[in-house]
Amino acid sequence: MKRTFVVGVTGASGVIYAKRLLDVLCEEENVHLITTRIARDIARHEGVALDGYNAVYHDEDGMGAGIASGSFRHDGMVVVPCSMKTLAAISNSFADNLITRAADVSLKEGRKCILVPREMPLSRVHLKNMLAASESGATIMVASPGFYHHPKTLDDLVDMVVARILDHLSVEHSLSSRWSGYDA
Ligand SMILES: Cc1cc2nc3c(=O)[nH]c(=O)nc-3n(C[C@H](O)[C@H](O)[C@H](O)COP(=O)(O)O)c2cc1C
Repeated sequence: MKRTFVVGVTGASGVIYAKRLLDVLCEEENVHLITTRIARDIARHEGVALDGYNAVYHDEDGMGAGIASGSFRHDGMVVVPCSMKTLAAISNSFADNLITRAADVSLKEGRKCILVPREMPLSRVHLKNMLAASESGATIMVASPGFYHHPKTLDDLVDMVVARILDHLSVEHSLSSRWSGYDA
């Protein structure tokens, strides 16, 4: 049976991470996709298309959607990339749009909620917000690929991060090889 996931895309650099995640998730699972206005602007600027997926598309203002309610059952939410503004909102339960509301609901219902923050360097308040979100039950997965699988292309680097997100959602994939020791 298909599972259901919620993906939020916010106005941070790195929309390509969301695209690769959707490439895999939308093939096998039900996906609700929420994009913010700035996320769509940045996607255009970074040359990444998020349309055309077999997903239910939501605007950030669509507060009436089922995913805004705790009664909506799903198997996990990912905010990727997650801006510092959205991180601040989620970590403080400031549910002012559909992404922050769906994340707030996921956390209160004890559902998996993965945040993929993108900023550098991180200020004290960014770090405090990450800790607060983690203490509320979110999983913080910074977009920080490893290099031990000898990436050759940008896609290799992106897939390394997306593979770890999919692992945390218990979704099968073949995006990236797994470490099996120096001699393997
Ligand atoms: C081109 C561009 C790139 C941006 N990159 C980031 C980023 O990597 N991280 C971040 O926290 N904010 C970034 N911002 C700022 C956010 O878009 C801004 O804080 C916005 O309010 C986020 O809103 P949202 O989270 O509702 O999409 C960027 C803005 C622009 C225009």
